[in-house]
Amino acid sequence: MQNQTLEYQSCIQSSERVSWRLDELLPGDTTLDFSRRFLSDALTGTEAIGFLSAEERLMLNQIRSNSYAHLFLFLEEYAVALASQRAGLELHGNATHMRALLRFTEEELKHQQLFARFTGAFARGFKVVPALLDNQVEVARAIMAKSNLGVLIFNLHMELMTQQHYQETVRGNKTETLDPLFCNLLKHHWLEEAQHTRLDFLEAQKILAQAPETLDAALAEYSELLQALRGTLNAQLELDLRTLEKAVGRTFTDAERQELTTAQERSYVRGFIGMGMKAPLFLSRLRALSPIAEQHVLALAPTYYCD
Ligand SMILES: [Fe+2]
Ligand SMILES: [Fe+2]
Repeated sequence: MQNQTLEYQSCIQSSERVSWRLDELLPGDTTLDFSRRFLSDALTGTEAIGFLSAEERLMLNQIRSNSYAHLFLFLEEYAVALASQRAGLELHGNATHMRALLRFTEEELKHQQLFARFTGAFARGFKVVPALLDNQVEVARAIMAKSNLGVLIFNLHMELMTQQHYQETVRGNKTETLDPLFCNLLKHHWLEEAQHTRLDFLEAQKILAQAPETLDAALAEYSELLQALRGTLNAQLELDLRTLEKAVGRTFTDAERQELTTAQERSYVRGFIGMGMKAPLFLSRLRALSPIAEQHVLALAPTYYCD
């Protein structure tokens, strides 16, 4: 218990060290530079679409990047619910655990506001107003109907994957010149997410120490959540293609639409689900929870284009 509290204390200290202010990172009146790509092709898969012109591929990259920002806002709706619920359990309990979890909650709310500001600036400057999913509250409620352990494992996956996106496609990207403002935004998101991944793990350990028999059901819930996320990604993809058609000013033929849908579905699913499934840190954390958890994820990985 004492060791665990030191871990929570260390999360608070790291969080205080890297904390940033929303108004400084992204002022409300920010204007975006639409001459550049925002996200790496590794996450948008737009460059391989042969029938689009270079200008149209740039627009698709930007639409996908805007949806990426929006999907974080979307997913953080349940993360706020999860972190605040875990914090509430420590009321009159361990104040250090509670402080760390309240910071986690506050940071996720701040991230939602950051991403909302970005999509607002995007809508003001892009050729057309992009269509974005708006059922995040309904989805968050459905996710939170699962056990905390199932949601914590799902969240550990999502947050470590965010880390991986930043490290591999932004910080470690030597081949593409991406929009510096968007890269900076992802960097600051990443700085705070690093503590969240540690807290997901600590909270999952806490549950398993008290109720190890709940693991199997939690892993089944994790699988269901991935499937549901795939549905959400496909729904956003449908909206992205509608936005792209409006932006390029023509309707795609059936063959073009098919090519776009196949390539972009793969890019979405791999980027938002598969990419994290064999990440060494995710697997080592799962192994530390239970070798069964690691095996469960490895068995699912091929379904999500993780090879
Ligand atoms: Fe976040
Ligand atoms: Fe987070």
